[in-house]
Amino acid sequence: MPDVPAKKAIVLSIGGSVFRTGEDDVAYLEHLADLVRRVGKRQPLAVTVGGGRTAREYIGIGRELGLTEIELDEIGIDVTRLHARILAARVGPPTPSHPPTTLAEAVLELRHGSPVVLGGTEPGHTTDGVAALLAVRLRAARLVNATNVDALYDHDPKLDPKALPIRRISWPQFRELVHAQSDGQPGQQFLFDRLGADQLARVRIPTAIVFGRDLPNLEKALLGRSFLGTEIS
Ligand code: UTP
Repeated sequence: MPDVPAKKAIVLSIGGSVFRTGEDDVAYLEHLADLVRRVGKRQPLAVTVGGGRTAREYIGIGRELGLTEIELDEIGIDVTRLHARILAARVGPPTPSHPPTTLAEAVLELRHGSPVVLGGTEPGHTTDGVAALLAVRLRAARLVNATNVDALYDHDPKLDPKALPIRRISWPQFRELVHAQSDGQPGQQFLFDRLGADQLARVRIPTAIVFGRDLPNLEKALLGRSFLGTEIS
């Protein structure tokens, strides 16, 4: 018998900039792994992990060497898979220690056991995009995007101290924002991936944006309780 409770799936996207900040990373990853294991026992849970600055560093070197955009994406994917492997190993069985490399593989693994942890899949998007595609494919109850800011803001809070958090936003408005702020280049940073926003907007899966280092708040968002951050609905 599969080890997964018959409940709707949840998808969590951990940004690479949250995974590794250089500050208390080991303690954070230990607690994150505990949380992922705990929530994954209650409900089918798929977690994607980003590559962050490590991916950007290698993409930068590759770009200076004149590698193609596809090769740069592949380098990014390898770094996300390295991160996924670290988290998966700490979470332990039934999570496969070798992260699935395609959406189909991830969906299949999730039928056999939860949680499942993976990195990127193919060139052309980010791990947020993978999380979005998985959420659509799994008809997930919700997607939680754990990132390095505590909410979506009306202006860049690093440049404008008067920027205000947006607590709720509609899918069409959010899509517009994402398209205005990113053009899909390898290693590019914005709160969400274009492909992901387009896919999620179509099926309107409730999505939460939370600060990934606040684990109690992240757990609330995963469990569908009230949380601090931004809700896209
Ligand atoms: P990330 O998901 O880490 O993207 O993938 P990011 O925008 O840098 O996000 P943060 O900072 O971790 O939150 C790193 C790079 O790997 C490639 C892309 O080039 C991406 O920018 N990638 C990743 C893919 O091409 N396909 C994937 O499925 C995943």
